[in-house]
Amino acid sequence: MKGIILAGGAGTRLYPITISVSKQLLPIYDKPLVYYPLSMLMLARIREVLLISTPDDIDDYKKLLGDGSRIGMRIEYKIQEKPRGLADAFILGEEFIGDDSVCLVLGDNVFYGAAMSAILRQAMDSIKDGGASIFGCFMKDPREFGVVEFDENKKVISIEEKPQKPKSNYAIPGLYFYDNNVVEIAKNVVPSARGEIEISSINNAYLEKGQLNVTLMGRGVSWFDTGSPKGMHKASGFVKTIQEMQGFYISCIEEIAWRKKFIDDAQLKKCGEELKMTEYGRYLLSLPAQEEDQ
Ligand code: TTP
Repeated sequence: MKGIILAGGAGTRLYPITISVSKQLLPIYDKPLVYYPLSMLMLARIREVLLISTPDDIDDYKKLLGDGSRIGMRIEYKIQEKPRGLADAFILGEEFIGDDSVCLVLGDNVFYGAAMSAILRQAMDSIKDGGASIFGCFMKDPREFGVVEFDENKKVISIEEKPQKPKSNYAIPGLYFYDNNVVEIAKNVVPSARGEIEISSINNAYLEKGQLNVTLMGRGVSWFDTGSPKGMHKASGFVKTIQEMQGFYISCIEEIAWRKKFIDDAQLKKCGEELKMTEYGRYLLSLPAQEEDQ
């Protein structure tokens, strides 16, 4: 399976911050926002990733992540000339996806939960024989999001965008798994009234075929949409609190690479040495010893 991170967009809800800086490079407490969605792909053991961003910003991502080899990944890059919509990821990514299935994660979505690897695996398994898998995150008030209605077999019955009267408490976050048909489906999506090729059109195409699964993320998972100043602040506060209290870092890409054995002790040490002027770097250097203590 291949992974795509959409890290373009206009970021207008964060103006003036994002007039000159790409949203997904802004900090969520101690690391760039893009580390969080990247770490989800890594937890799913997806090691080939395409990062899509704007003509202005793509070089900054290359500077930050390079070819990915530092963390045992292979990262490629693609420019999206205009924010044409989320489904554009599969058109831009056609060659990269090849004959594979694909996971799309939005560059501004932050997830955290102990069961994350297992949840991702469950979603991947559910499309082994084809189809699509999306997630439902429990929210007290999901009215601002796409909301999913499903039957007792977790088959989706309907998806409603920003409903006034939601049929469930499960909002759809920016993390989606699709079989290879998604490329052809995306090519045939007609732009919506706001001129974008919408991910909901893709999901509805799978829904009509009876091939749309939903994996529920219950109270064990926290999900943040960081597209607004409040969302960014909330996510930063959450990461700071958890890291300080538990001592474990959230979405530390070098740590995940090491724990998943994409890199060995020596490579982790090199990453730590490069950053040892910060707490982040010292955390990386402390990991092997911490492991021995447990
Ligand atoms: P949005 O938050 O929907 O859009 P945006 O980032 O442009 O922000 P705003 O609404 O404040 O103007 O995008 C969700 C994510 O997808 C975000 O990480 C940016 C990314 N994106 C693209 O890379 N290309 C696109 O065409 C769109 C629509 C979004």
